[in-house]
Amino acid sequence: MGQDQATQPTGVPLLSAPPTDLEGLYGRGFCLCTTPSAQVSLVLSQERSIDLYELEQICDAVGWSRRPLRRVRKALENSLLVVGLWRHDARLPRLVGFARCTGDGVIEATVWDVAVHPLYQGAGLGKQLMTYVIDCLKQMGVERVSLFADPGVVDFYSAQGWELEPQQRRCAFWYAP
Ligand SMILES: CC(C)(COP(=O)(O)OP(=O)(O)OC[C@H]1O[C@@H](n2cnc3c(N)ncnc32)[C@H](O)[C@@H]1OP(=O)(O)O)[C@@H](O)C(=O)NCCC(=O)NCCS
Repeated sequence: MGQDQATQPTGVPLLSAPPTDLEGLYGRGFCLCTTPSAQVSLVLSQERSIDLYELEQICDAVGWSRRPLRRVRKALENSLLVVGLWRHDARLPRLVGFARCTGDGVIEATVWDVAVHPLYQGAGLGKQLMTYVIDCLKQMGVERVSLFADPGVVDFYSAQGWELEPQQRRCAFWYAP
């Protein structure tokens, strides 16, 4: 992702978008998504602030249980990377997808809370969201990325090159203090 110019997840420079306007809305390093509909522009951003109520609506829509908003705010503040997928509107972009990562920013990162609003699913946006997340982590120099997939989405990640554990080497554990 260039600093001054928007790029698609494929790295192709966008010739038609006005980068300065979009940069004002979405910050540096935003990506315009490829979408099946020419009527809708969708943008990935790691700099535009997330509205907690919009995020809660997405979590509700995909069936996740609610968490207190003040704890969510703190979790976002403490995250290494927070990515929003926005339906572009010059006056009021709408949050339609989300992902975040925790980690040390150098050796390890873990991806959490990957979600695309059901109205926008099945259009390749989840895949572009993950590509963007990985690109951002690569730019930081993170060496290894992990995530915990719900059983119903294992194939979504496998198809994008994620390796399923435990294969032979490691096993995931949970502990609630
Ligand atoms: C998982 C999720 C992010 C995928 O988003 P999406 O925008 O629908 O995904 P895409 O359209 O980019 O799909 C990319 C590919 O993965 C496939 N895919 C999508 N969801 C899948 C699933 N649940 N299982 C297996 N494959 C899936 C698509 O068919 C597509 O395949 P193709 O490249 O061969 O056409 C979205 O369904 C979602 O938000 N689900 C609810 C929340 C959730 O479960 N998050 C993951 C927590 S670990």
